[in-house]
Amino acid sequence: MRKKIIAANWKMNMTVSEAESFVDDFQREVADITGVEIVIAPPFTSLPKLSELVGDSQNIRLGAQNFHPEPSGAFTGEISASMLRELFVRYVIIGHSERRQIFGESDAFINQKVLAAQANELKPILCIGETLAEREAGREKEILAGQLHGALANVPVEEFPDMVIAYEPVWAIGTGKTATAAQAQEAHAHTREVLAELSNPETANKIRIQYGGSVKPDNAKELLSQPDIDGALVGGASLESRSFTRIVSACCEDNG
Ligand code: PGA
Repeated sequence: MRKKIIAANWKMNMTVSEAESFVDDFQREVADITGVEIVIAPPFTSLPKLSELVGDSQNIRLGAQNFHPEPSGAFTGEISASMLRELFVRYVIIGHSERRQIFGESDAFINQKVLAAQANELKPILCIGETLAEREAGREKEILAGQLHGALANVPVEEFPDMVIAYEPVWAIGTGKTATAAQAQEAHAHTREVLAELSNPETANKIRIQYGGSVKPDNAKELLSQPDIDGALVGGASLESRSFTRIVSACCEDNG
């Protein structure tokens, strides 16, 4: 059984005081929800405050939206893995389509980040996904396989189960267009097949694959009930605590 994992990607939103007030509400709202792992990835500036508030809490983990693979040095504006570890950060989002498209991150650089995260006990949330043009050309499976092969080169099989993969079709991010549950399931099943090629079927079955792209309280349940959808990576709908709580609750019939 793969434990569901719901992550908030706040992107460049929320000041420290806004983050603090979100977490005050959110901790109360999810206090009784069990059996789901929750990750909040705020901007770097809010990590110290949230680390104080959430600490090493069992049900809410901290994530970072980015880091640099080098351990230290002349990389103006960047943050290292050890800086994140000191703040109890457990997860790091790698390869988000905004980083690929706006900041020009290549599969080779993403691969360096995956390896560096693993060497520093940070669990990667590795994002993959095709653009609309690629889907319309019928190339989505090839694109996903290429991104996985590129990002996971030289990753030892024993590191695979601790990774999280986020399938995020670029055309569904922030657009209000969600992949249908069937489209998402098909992409997730394909992703798991590629992961099995890169490791083995038993290992691939342990890896959690999140769906991301306009996940909302109203569509979360259907997406999360698909056999290969093990969680969600949520942007816009994670900025308001009640809406994020409803998505977390959608994981378990009994909650919510
Ligand atoms: P969205 O973003 O939920 O606002 O579509 C998801 C993401 O980019 O991770």
